[in-house]
Amino acid sequence: MYVCLCMGVCDREIREAINEGACSVAEVMECTGAGTRCGSCEPTIAKLVGDREAAPAPRRLVMAPVSSAA
Ligand code: FES
Repeated sequence: MYVCLCMGVCDREIREAINEGACSVAEVMECTGAGTRCGSCEPTIAKLVGDREAAPAPRRLVMAPVSSAA
């Protein structure tokens, strides 16, 4: 879905920017160009950034040492 009609930026491109490290609206704007004209898409960009921040951290697999009792 297009988020920024002025610059032709879709949600997939914004999510990619976020996944590659953009962690604020300003950084997403800088990476994608979204929000740099009329600004009416900024709330949607902020929501996408917020969704990422609100997402639970990826679970990490904890490896326990294996005892070599034989
Ligand atoms: S819709 Fe994004 S800058 Fe206008």
